[in-house]
Amino acid sequence: CGIVGYVGPQSALDVVTAGLKRLEYRGYDSAGVAVQADGGLATAKRAGKLVNLEKELSERPLPAGSTGIGHTRWATHGGPTDANAHPHLDNAGRVAVVHNGIIENFAALREELTERGHALASETDTEVVAHLLAEEYSACADLAEAMRLVCRRLEGAFTLVAVHADEPDVVVGARRNSPLVVGVGEGESFLASDVAAFITHTREAIELGQDQVVELRRDTVTVTDFDGAPADVREYHVDWDASAAEKGGYDYFMLKEIAEQPKAVADTLLGRIDGAGSLTLDEVRIPANVLREVDKVVIVACGTAFHAGLIAKYAIEHWTRVPCEVELASEFRYRDPILDQQTLVVAISQSGETMDTLMALRHAREQGAKVLAICNTNGSTIPRESDAVLYTHAGPEVAVASTKAFLTQLVACYLVALYLGQVRGTKYADEIRAVVRDLASISGAVERVLETMEPVRELARSLAGKNTVLFLGRHVGYPVALEGALKLKELAYMHAEGFAAGELKHGPIALIEDDLPVVVVVPSPRGRSVLHDKIVSNIQEIRARGARTIVVAEEGDDAVVPYADHLIRVPVTPTLLQPLVATVPLQVFACELATARGNEVDQPRNLAKSVTVE
Ligand code: G6P
Repeated sequence: CGIVGYVGPQSALDVVTAGLKRLEYRGYDSAGVAVQADGGLATAKRAGKLVNLEKELSERPLPAGSTGIGHTRWATHGGPTDANAHPHLDNAGRVAVVHNGIIENFAALREELTERGHALASETDTEVVAHLLAEEYSACADLAEAMRLVCRRLEGAFTLVAVHADEPDVVVGARRNSPLVVGVGEGESFLASDVAAFITHTREAIELGQDQVVELRRDTVTVTDFDGAPADVREYHVDWDASAAEKGGYDYFMLKEIAEQPKAVADTLLGRIDGAGSLTLDEVRIPANVLREVDKVVIVACGTAFHAGLIAKYAIEHWTRVPCEVELASEFRYRDPILDQQTLVVAISQSGETMDTLMALRHAREQGAKVLAICNTNGSTIPRESDAVLYTHAGPEVAVASTKAFLTQLVACYLVALYLGQVRGTKYADEIRAVVRDLASISGAVERVLETMEPVRELARSLAGKNTVLFLGRHVGYPVALEGALKLKELAYMHAEGFAAGELKHGPIALIEDDLPVVVVVPSPRGRSVLHDKIVSNIQEIRARGARTIVVAEEGDDAVVPYADHLIRVPVTPTLLQPLVATVPLQVFACELATARGNEVDQPRNLAKSVTVE
């Protein structure tokens, strides 16, 4: 969910709704606002996207006020209805609260409140907080203190922001796990889940730490822990450009982000590799002698980042000869994984705040493992809690379905694998130097793929009426197939599955029927040519059973031509690097199919970009 709070001379409603617009990527099931006005609180909330709330506000404007809060929701407790939308109020309507996270003991708290005569109106866990705050406030008449008292009783993950009608020009926030950042302006203060919400007003930010409460006034920001003791905070200057998060002439953020991939890849390599084939990763603050002792690498991630991890496994094991496991972060800590000081855990996350990944890394550190984060968001929770971080330089990614962040995660994974190989001195030293040189030209190869995408878009449009698309690959092409299928599920809402091509004959081949589109990612015929020959046989097997084959193959690979109903060419790359070029057509394919089916490309149904609940 996305949260905004404001106190200052401007219209709070305008600042808050503009902020929510920039946070809509965090959830868009419903939205709401509350402002202090005429000695009370005025609120508006609506199910559905922010436009529904904006429409409501234009039909029934709220009175002007200088203090307000807002929320855009990704539903957890209670469906996305008007009543369940935030803010939530107490029975007297004097306190309003918005929340991101899950309050795990809400059922017990709710029962307690009902026994004391409170009437709860929604199905959400958040509403209990409004009632508890109202009770505490009536005893202490200090909203920050009331918030501290309430937080001490809550279990789970929560970021809360509240206003009280009796405390004008004050916004109070609390943070456990999900992010919360203060924006410090001149005579005005902001509070939000992400600096994007206030970057047009101020670039001076304060990142709240775990278990802290903040009281915002026009000229002061006071941060304490949950017991009221003054807390240490991290102040920083936001240096990215707000225009980087605008659509820049494209119809959708996703199209813009796909087009930005060559630059994102180049930026992620910048300063880390040189033309002579060696790499420098000074940021990886884990000493070389510790890296030499590593006897196992475990990668944890979710969604698209997990697919980057699957590809990393091939690279890490090949170049370093160290065993590597890849696991979905949500499964990781619950199976009691075997970890010790010699385990290197790599946590991959675009946002740096995915709760499943954060919990997995905390578990790993508790067991004594070293954690290296690969992350796109400076200063976010995952890198802050890791031993070291390698930032991807994709720039802000707004579309919910990840594209440029994925390519840069791949680059970062290759760098980690090559660096481990370099530090540990494997027998592949020459190959490592050669691949580092190949990486230097890879951004140009991505650019070339983008220049030839019109036939892919045409093909996608012609398949808009299909229900199912399958994706096959071998070796690193297998995770690429999984990612191609995920993109299609996320964007086109189609049944799409990725399989290891060799596994086809063990079951999935039963799905093949006449004219079923099957995308096949073909490895290079050079290098491991046996892989290539095997997949050419797989293409023939499915084609013999009626499949319509869409073949992604390297330029000059003639062996596939007789069996490809549609052929998508990608530039020649070393085998392990092929995902950097082979994924791009699959992104374009999914984006175009979604558009042809009339779907919202940037904000697919039911999803959110940052999932801050487990
Ligand atoms: C959400 C997004 C996915 C993303 C995943 C992991 O589910 O919808 O696109 O891959 O989270 O996100 P992260 O920020 O940790 O990379």
